Amino acid sequence: MTKKSKLLYEGKAKKLYATDEKNILWVEYLNQTTALNGLRKDLIQGKGELNNQITSLVFEYLRQRGIKHHFVEKISKTEQLIQKLKIIPLEIVLRNVAAGSLSKRLNVEKGTQLSFPIVEFYLKKDLLKDPFINDEHVLMLKIANLEEINLLKKKIRKINEVLIEMFQKAKIKLIDFKLEFGKLPDGPIVLADEISPDTCRLWDEITNEHLDKDVYRYNLGNLVPVYQEVLKRLLTI
Ligand SMILES: Nc1ncnc2c1ncn2[C@@H]1O[C@H](COP(=O)(O)OP(=O)(O)OP(=O)(O)O)[C@@H](O)[C@H]1O
Ligand SMILES: [Mg+2]
Repeated sequence: MTKKSKLLYEGKAKKLYATDEKNILWVEYLNQTTALNGLRKDLIQGKGELNNQITSLVFEYLRQRGIKHHFVEKISKTEQLIQKLKIIPLEIVLRNVAAGSLSKRLNVEKGTQLSFPIVEFYLKKDLLKDPFINDEHVLMLKIANLEEINLLKKKIRKINEVLIEMFQKAKIKLIDFKLEFGKLPDGPIVLADEISPDTCRLWDEITNEHLDKDVYRYNLGNLVPVYQEVLKRLLTI
């Protein structure tokens, strides 16, 4: 049995602990919910549990489809074990349908199907409010080399295909999502962090109703029954 040791990092949505195994971390999913880069903050009972369940289920699905990632196992309602990675400080976003900042910045109507999946890089730096950057900034900042940039884009596009197919079975449209990647001690880049309604835009296939954190961002109601609905549907696929 892996043992939890000291707290390494307390983020906005999760706590990370070291364990008695060098390359394994212990993650606790929190009820804390934030928007606007942490400017708005609330405790929502049950959210941590739901995100842990949903992320675990999605990572299991990805594993079955041959996608390499950090997830080891879910160990309690709110906790999982993951492989320790050196996180690449990028939030990598893929968009299938216009929404959020893409709609706002480029004046593309929310809900417009994009002609191809668009990949965007954001620098993971809270102090700078995670700014939008391009490939050349990634190179300039020495975050990744050209080969790695291309690999990251290839990986997120492949993951998009698998996620679209998975959510389709749950009668959900995958509008956009954010991923993080990291390097294993021996070098390979694998998927990290979480995939949940906190990090994806998910719309009901028929009604286009939000099944994600936009319910909180835009004050559309209680987030818990919405996340429960996502989990319920994913359990049927
Ligand atoms: N396998 C991993 N190994 C090491 N760190 C990880 C791994 N997976 C995720 N992380 C990091 O753990 C933290 C998760 O916490 P949380 O999601 O609460 O952070 P956050 O508040 O969103 O802040 P951040 O801006 O750092 O992502 C993130 O910093 C994420 O990059
Ligand atoms: Mg996070």
